[in-house]
Amino acid sequence: MHLDYEMLEVLKQLALMNATKKVLKISSKELAEKIGQSVQTAARKLKELEDEGLIERTLTRDGQFIVITEKGKKMLYKEYLDYKKIFEDEGTITIKGKVFSGVGEGRYYVSLEGYRRQFIEKLGFDPYPGTLNLRIPKEQLYFRRRLDEEDGILIEGFSTPDRTFGEVKAFKCKVGGIEGAIVMPKRTHYPEDVLEVIAPVKLREVLKLKDGDYVEVEVVL
Ligand code: CDP
Repeated sequence: MHLDYEMLEVLKQLALMNATKKVLKISSKELAEKIGQSVQTAARKLKELEDEGLIERTLTRDGQFIVITEKGKKMLYKEYLDYKKIFEDEGTITIKGKVFSGVGEGRYYVSLEGYRRQFIEKLGFDPYPGTLNLRIPKEQLYFRRRLDEEDGILIEGFSTPDRTFGEVKAFKCKVGGIEGAIVMPKRTHYPEDVLEVIAPVKLREVLKLKDGDYVEVEVVL
């Protein structure tokens, strides 16, 4: 069957005017205005849709009457399923990064009771003391930046007698099938090409990771 984008667009416009549910009265001129094409193009597209059995058309002295057939409806439904697929995982993004070793600071911060208690309460797991550091390559930065724009789950800051610890935002994530979370400080400057992952287990051990390995992190926004 022959179906081009313009035919599909016309079919969609007709459907938006309820031509799947009732007989629509519309002139080719009106349709042309609707789709921003010439009257000739509109008329030709209608003819093509008719030839393909996607619409039925009746011309009377009162005008042009159009209805979308079951076949036409199926065609639109197929498009709908494609869009559904595009949007169904919305809210989840995948970022690829390269494992690297830091200076052991992660262990210190994650172990702090003021944070740990909130990780348990808000993320649902008691984190292994440390963070798995990931360097995000240049071509992956688009989705890394999305995290800067999102609020995430708020982990509140707190104070001890000697110092204060700032707010952190967290995003639930999955690495190699293991549930974890990305954590990032909210206010302090943070490198735009780094991500830190916490998890209930030592990811290096469970996933057999070493420096330089690439991992994919599925992040829930
Ligand atoms: O020294 P570095 O900052 O890289 O690490 P850390 O945050 O002190 O964490 C200690 C070690 O555990 C590092 O090798 C991390 O990569 C690793 N780790 C892990 O494998 N899985 C986690 N869930 C957390 C940390």
